[in-house]
Amino acid sequence: MFETLKKAPVDKIFALMGEYRADPRKDKTDLGIGVYKDPTGETPIMSAVKKAEQKVFADAKTKTYVGVSGNRGFCDAVTDLVFGDAIEKSRIASVQAPGGTGSIWVLLQLLNRARPGGTMWISDPSWPNHQPMCELAGLNVKAYPYFDAESGDVKFDEMLACLDKMGPEDTVLLHACCHNPTGANLTNEQWDKVAASLKKTGAFPLIDLAYLGFGDGLEADAYAPRKLASELPEVMLAFSASKNFGLYRERAGCAVCVGSDENTAAIAYSQMANIIRASYSQPPDHGAEIVRLILSDPALRAEWEAELKEMRERMVRLRVKLADAIRERSNATDFDFVARHRGMFSLLGLDKAQVEHLKLSNGIYMIDDSRINVAGIPEDRVGELADALLAVAR
Ligand code: LMR
Repeated sequence: MFETLKKAPVDKIFALMGEYRADPRKDKTDLGIGVYKDPTGETPIMSAVKKAEQKVFADAKTKTYVGVSGNRGFCDAVTDLVFGDAIEKSRIASVQAPGGTGSIWVLLQLLNRARPGGTMWISDPSWPNHQPMCELAGLNVKAYPYFDAESGDVKFDEMLACLDKMGPEDTVLLHACCHNPTGANLTNEQWDKVAASLKKTGAFPLIDLAYLGFGDGLEADAYAPRKLASELPEVMLAFSASKNFGLYRERAGCAVCVGSDENTAAIAYSQMANIIRASYSQPPDHGAEIVRLILSDPALRAEWEAELKEMRERMVRLRVKLADAIRERSNATDFDFVARHRGMFSLLGLDKAQVEHLKLSNGIYMIDDSRINVAGIPEDRVGELADALLAVAR
């Protein structure tokens, strides 16, 4: 039977991670997969996570099932973190899912039940997994204008013009903050306009919130979900704890449907639970229990917020250092957008051959669309990186 199939394409982000690990060069630089790195180039377990994990192990009494929709304390703590007091809690239906990707997957299944074969609009460009995920869920994928490669900013007027032409049958996938892969984000005023457009056309938002706290802070990064959920009757949101809690391999995420009222929220909840039971039965608990504990314990929460702030500030500092180093060497402002961007990524605007050259000649790894993970910028070798980028860009 298997011979009747073709080999499927590999995911380029994880393929690059494998290539990087296999590269024997000592001075290689990993700007590829989106995992946070400290100044030594490691991805350590956050200290609040380590402490919570020890408590989880010490206090555990059973390994029996938690339930189809997962850890309720986790879901409530996450939705409080995301929405604050912006909306009535009775409108919120949430389930725990395996990571941000698992959360998107649950929501896409629900979407396909409500609107079989409907259209999903994703940003041009978007995270490389968005399109295959939507297609696997049976949705048609179209792209809305987003990134202006010339300026490094969002083509907001074109984006809005495209949104304004949509109708109630359309769904729009929006990156709440820290856009992946470009690093270019909407201002609050632009989010207000997006909310007004969606209100007018009836197009439905699916918000991907994978980097809460990595952009401008926990409150600032929650602006879009709060605005959209308070202005619109219904919203879907996928939350990931992979990055902001550094829980990548534990797969802790939350799929949220905000309904117009308690009754529609209850329908959405039952649908999500039904989808989960028929697919993977229930999510893993360990990562979710760590997050629940951190968010509910004032001391652990303060420690986590301080660590998250330190990570965010380090990424901003690395952005500024790289942009400065390039400007000093080239006397040009071509890469200044790196300092303006927020989150983990920036799209540099190099072509595939230039990206390949950097990998082969300099051991500098980035995704083939020239997306870099700024947390991977080596702080003590920023000048070397700037030299290599300029050499290949010329
Ligand atoms: C990334 O974009 O590098 C991360 O979100 C990891 C992933 O799952 O692709």
